[in-house]
Amino acid sequence: MREAPWPAGIRAIVYGVGEMGSLATRLLVERSVEIVGAVGRSPEKVGRDLGEVTGLGRAIGVPIEADADTVLGRGADIAVVCVGSYLKTMHPHFEVCLANKVNVVTIEEETIFPWSTSPDLSASLDGLAKANGVTLAASGAQDVFWVNLVTTLLGASHRVDSVTGYCCWNVDDYGPEVAGHLLVGQSKKYFDQFVSEHGWPEFVARQTVEAMVSQLGLTPKATRSDVEPVVAKEAVRCQSLGREIAPGEIIGTVDRTRLSTIEGPEFEFRMEGRVYRANEGDQNHWQVSGEPALQLSNEGVPYRFTTCSTVVNRIPDVISAEPGLFSLDRLGPAQYRHCASLA
Ligand SMILES: NC(=O)c1ccc[n+]([C@@H]2O[C@H](COP(=O)([O-])OP(=O)(O)OC[C@H]3O[C@@H](n4cnc5c(N)ncnc54)[C@H](OP(=O)(O)O)[C@@H]3O)[C@@H](O)[C@H]2O)c1
Repeated sequence: MREAPWPAGIRAIVYGVGEMGSLATRLLVERSVEIVGAVGRSPEKVGRDLGEVTGLGRAIGVPIEADADTVLGRGADIAVVCVGSYLKTMHPHFEVCLANKVNVVTIEEETIFPWSTSPDLSASLDGLAKANGVTLAASGAQDVFWVNLVTTLLGASHRVDSVTGYCCWNVDDYGPEVAGHLLVGQSKKYFDQFVSEHGWPEFVARQTVEAMVSQLGLTPKATRSDVEPVVAKEAVRCQSLGREIAPGEIIGTVDRTRLSTIEGPEFEFRMEGRVYRANEGDQNHWQVSGEPALQLSNEGVPYRFTTCSTVVNRIPDVISAEPGLFSLDRLGPAQYRHCASLA
């Protein structure tokens, strides 16, 4: 069996100190990664110690700084970037890392497979990464549960007609950035007006399906995406916004992408992100039609934790990958790497 121990001596920068950046910090510290810098934004965090802000309960000698270029300029093997969701807003953050010759692993969703939704920005970041000899790649809940588990399952298929997936996760497991993306707390009227004026950013379902299809070596023929708001039937408290959502207001969305291929197999993925009521848990269900019919279900997947554990497990893959923007279809399956400091 191939051994995959956790490499010693990794030097990392935590870029974005919100819910996910804080949990990632704990996992990095427990894996004896040397944290050499932290980039934050709000005055409540900048100037304070990363360990204290992220709830480690002790200072670790790493101040949170606002000037990303200064922090990145001091050098590191990798920046763990947990800030936002779209290349349109995230590319300056990636650029500053890549220009300083620091590899990037991020939970920004679009970079899972950004080639069709943001071709120009993807090409430009790919070029910048190559010019500086470093790699940009994304991971998160998509990686193991929505792409690699499913493509592994298809390794048992003789013929695939269609692949249909559904997942559900809790907005309150994440920070206000996520609730804001989904327009949680807005009225249905506002939601409809927003979508008709701005469109709806395809930031997860489409990239997930496109990464899967690319990994399978199939050719997209037609892609259709839509979004439905999920409206509160009764009042529900949104922890991440710190307020109650009234009946009739938005508690989340269902993003759906359907993709047909020139070769024949069809793909559909529905991603529901919303504020949970008591006793609800995360879900992941996939059905394969063909010979044989196959199913995959994970009840109670802890997406909040596995977003961070997977992104941390990806660090050695990203450091050792060829330079460039490495979409998830090219990264291979994620691996558990045993770390002596956790024993
Ligand atoms: N791929 C996945 O599976 C996955 C899973 C979860 C989340 N995500 C995505 O990851 C992102 C972060 O999620 P989260 O739950 O951690 O959200 P969050 O708690 O709201 O954190 C976002 C963080 O980004 C920081 N930030 C914003 N602009 C910045 C800037 N210019 N420079 C430095 N820091 C900046 C914020 O800083 P302040 O706190 O100082 O304002 C905040 O700490 C979201 O876009 C979310 O959609 C992806």
